[in-house]
Amino acid sequence: MKIVITGGAGFLGRRLAKVLLEDSDVAQVILSDVSQLRAPSHDERLVLSQANLLDPGAAAAVVDGADVVFHLAAIVSGQAEADFDMGMSVNVDATRSLLEAARATGHCPRFVYASSLAVFGPPLPAVVDEQTAVHPQSSYGAQKAICELLVADYTRKAFVDGRVLRFPTVCVRPGTPNAAASSFVSGIIREPLHGEKAVCPVGRDHKLWLSSPAAVVENLIHAAWLRPDELGFERIINLPGITVTVGEMIASLERIAGKEVASRVVFGEDLKVQRIVCSWPSSFDVTRALRLGFSRDPDFDDLIMDFISDEKAEKNLKRP
Ligand SMILES: NC(=O)c1ccc[n+]([C@@H]2O[C@H](COP(=O)([O-])OP(=O)(O)OC[C@H]3O[C@@H](n4cnc5c(N)ncnc54)[C@H](O)[C@@H]3O)[C@@H](O)[C@H]2O)c1
Repeated sequence: MKIVITGGAGFLGRRLAKVLLEDSDVAQVILSDVSQLRAPSHDERLVLSQANLLDPGAAAAVVDGADVVFHLAAIVSGQAEADFDMGMSVNVDATRSLLEAARATGHCPRFVYASSLAVFGPPLPAVVDEQTAVHPQSSYGAQKAICELLVADYTRKAFVDGRVLRFPTVCVRPGTPNAAASSFVSGIIREPLHGEKAVCPVGRDHKLWLSSPAAVVENLIHAAWLRPDELGFERIINLPGITVTVGEMIASLERIAGKEVASRVVFGEDLKVQRIVCSWPSSFDVTRALRLGFSRDPDFDDLIMDFISDEKAEKNLKRP
């Protein structure tokens, strides 16, 4: 089986490739990205392919011969809001090109699309479910919602076998802050653990809908392996997550790393971030996703512990 991951140099793409390669039934994993790619593991089944999905012909080359396409390449929320044209090009036009290229293969490849809770916005019910209408309050959310419909219609026409996953905010992201409006969600855990101050732009009572990177990767793979008849006509899935307030996140950090570390989180309003992040729902009914076998993290302590052990493993790998 030949698998392609777009956005393969990104946070989730690299992790996804690593986990996929643990499966001996996988014949090839192609990591594609406009950015420089690094192999997540040494494996002869891994191919690195640098390509800009906006270049003419790039999409066709990327999906050539693929049985499964995980489409993760995107411009994140803050950047899509700041640069409308770039967001539309990468998040919408490139997705459409990729769907067209997948259609042209003629063998209806599986197409797993990374959507987001950002497709929702006020007015919101207390609990979002499969019937809740999309009402994005950011260009990023609107672009994801457009692509959800595209994937659904290409699936209805049997051009691709699509699966759309609406991710919770994924936390804790390693590295440095990125241009996502939700960047602080990882920052308020990661920076204090690294001995640095972190500014939280929303209040302690603000509720978030979160998932660990490990759970999202597991769910991406689960989505790709589900049979079409298990999914039925409805291909859009709100992925499971956990609802946590910022105050609960800081309390978790204190339990795990101590008072001094937790005290490095300070509060400072950022209206630009608040306007986007406060429009996102924080409570979902995920009965259908759980029935289909998608999984979720037990609690927020677990997300922090995962991050700490991933960082330790990464450090050991880098040691000569
Ligand atoms: N991380 C989260 O919290 C989260 C939440 C909801 C949805 N998502 C979605 O999941 C997917 C993966 O997220 P991530 O956190 O790994 O993002 P990321 O920003 O780390 O990775 C995205 C990758 O897309 C690549 N890319 C951008 N433009 C491209 C182009 N023109 N051609 C080829 N590649 C291009 C970038 O170089 C980057 O490596 C994205 O679609 C994102 O919108 C993520």
